[in-house]
Amino acid sequence: MRLAFTLLALPSLAFSALALPAQTTATLFIDAAKPLHPVSPTLYGIMSEEINHSWDGGLYAELVSTRTFLPPRRPGRPPQNWILIEHGASAAAITIDSASGPSTALPSSLKLDVTSADADSTAGFFNTGYWGIAVRPSTNYRGSFYAKSDTPALGPITIRLVQNQTGAVAATTSVPAPDSAWKQYTFTLKTAATTPSSANYRIEFLVSHPGAAWFTLLSLFPPTWHGQPNGFRPDLMDKLAALHPKFLRFPGGNFLEGQHLDEHFDWKKTVGPLVDRPGHQAPWMYRSSDGMGLLEMLTWCEDLHMEPLLAVFSGYALDHTHIDPGTDLQPYVQDALDEIEYVTGGTSTKWGAQRARDGHPAPFPLHYIEIGNEEYHDPSGTYDARFAQFYKAIKQDHPQLQIIASAPVASTRPDMIDDNDHEAHRHFYRTATQFFHDAHRYDTYDRTGPKILVGEWATREGTPTTNLGAALGDAAWMTGLERNSDIVVMASYAPLFVNVSPSAMEWEGNLIGFDAFSSYGSPSYYAQLLFSNHLGDQVLDSTLTTVNPRLFESVTADFAAHRVYLKLVNASSDPQPVDIKIAGARVRPTLTITTLTGATAKATNSITDPNRIVPTVTHAAKAAPSFHHTVPPCAIQVLDIDLAP
Ligand code: AHR
Repeated sequence: MRLAFTLLALPSLAFSALALPAQTTATLFIDAAKPLHPVSPTLYGIMSEEINHSWDGGLYAELVSTRTFLPPRRPGRPPQNWILIEHGASAAAITIDSASGPSTALPSSLKLDVTSADADSTAGFFNTGYWGIAVRPSTNYRGSFYAKSDTPALGPITIRLVQNQTGAVAATTSVPAPDSAWKQYTFTLKTAATTPSSANYRIEFLVSHPGAAWFTLLSLFPPTWHGQPNGFRPDLMDKLAALHPKFLRFPGGNFLEGQHLDEHFDWKKTVGPLVDRPGHQAPWMYRSSDGMGLLEMLTWCEDLHMEPLLAVFSGYALDHTHIDPGTDLQPYVQDALDEIEYVTGGTSTKWGAQRARDGHPAPFPLHYIEIGNEEYHDPSGTYDARFAQFYKAIKQDHPQLQIIASAPVASTRPDMIDDNDHEAHRHFYRTATQFFHDAHRYDTYDRTGPKILVGEWATREGTPTTNLGAALGDAAWMTGLERNSDIVVMASYAPLFVNVSPSAMEWEGNLIGFDAFSSYGSPSYYAQLLFSNHLGDQVLDSTLTTVNPRLFESVTADFAAHRVYLKLVNASSDPQPVDIKIAGARVRPTLTITTLTGATAKATNSITDPNRIVPTVTHAAKAAPSFHHTVPPCAIQVLDIDLAP
């Protein structure tokens, strides 16, 4: 609860740390003997989709970019990233042959025509990677490609990792001359202990005889998280693991819907061997390889102990076209039922058996299904009927599943609703000031309706990743989510990732930034870290009395651990003194205070300055039934207060 003596009218503009009457002491009363309701154990999750090269060129550890040669539908990005090599007196050409490939899914390939080459004048091509290929010393890189040749004398293919500026070769190997029929070739490139670490490498494929050969699905993986094949980048997984996210909302977002109906996330084309995955044109401008397919997303959940929150395509695309409910929609409903069977079915079911063949015999747990994304944008008014059709069919086979509506519906009561900013008519993408004003949104919310998923939200201040001011907006909002987590049971920040290399970003204000070589968390990332790692399991009764409209609090407890978590957010530019009174329990004197703060609201982290705004931990021996505490300006603090058993 919050009592304010005055309410200052603040403009809805981007946040600047205004001087406010913060120096007036606030009082906070906590009744540790009065839990109001449990904290939702699923409260903090993450949302991810293919945007900003989040997966291709990001979490999905593949180092070769545009590894197949299927054209993007729309002109523009990405560049093909394949460059001809003609060393010395060699002569060659590379072209895309759209009539020859190793599978129905991959009907195109890169044709290398070498008219002149020898051992001293090799010819071939290289791939630039995703804004470079990161190479480290004493490391094994596992590679493969499909190839064929009509020239028996072409000779072996040499493969090398080469430093772009110096031409230094970090690793080299070769595979035998390709057969006349399509076949997969595998190789390992091992760097020496003396290899300099850098993202400035390329991968070269070279021959030393004239002839022609065709290539596709050229692939190179560094060591992945826990060594999994077709796996994930370890630094990014480590950052996510530290958040302890309770669920993953996937695969979108716009990426689920597609720009056009035939460009939606068609899960059946994203499973099975990579050579049978065509990839598809994604709405965020580049073609998705779909190497990060449905099974990879599920194993991602498994690896990080996250509940999958699976969004299924509902028959509506971003270009505002839709499939009519009824007979026309039925194949899409069946697709969703098949998808659920792929995730949860035993190996005696058709799609459970497919999952087993794909390498994962054990079913995955699944409790949450969302129907579509941001359906309030559909001008046709058909979502109500489409939702009802999905709901009925899914509940009939899987009554235990919680079905989430992505927009308000009237004819069916959903188990949960993905809430949105009703004024802006979108998910909660806001300024810090807007979040300060709306931090109490759910305090008086109708408790008789469906539970709430806040499926996408973020304070969008700072680019490519958010700044401290954004983290303060986020933290203010999260205090409200926690206090009301009897009704708001799940919330996922978005977007999760951005590749910060030139032209890779498509959306400003993201949680985690990276390039080919390294990654960093934004101040918003650390705000998430603070909240999710000090969650508690009961919301305690508390009353904050203050004249500072930019002071926010949430008080939870973990009674088994005899601990109270007090979160205080001071988004003003003055220190905020607070008199804290705790009743209903015996308080131990030792206090652990974790603080996220910086010089100004604009202060931030970046790829070259990743640790400017990070949490610091201090200990004090001042906790008591009644004690005084000052929250620094522009600061998020978590006070761990220990109780006597
Ligand atoms: O998170 C970026 C986009 O914002 C999502 O794809 C979409 O759901 C929302 O509009």
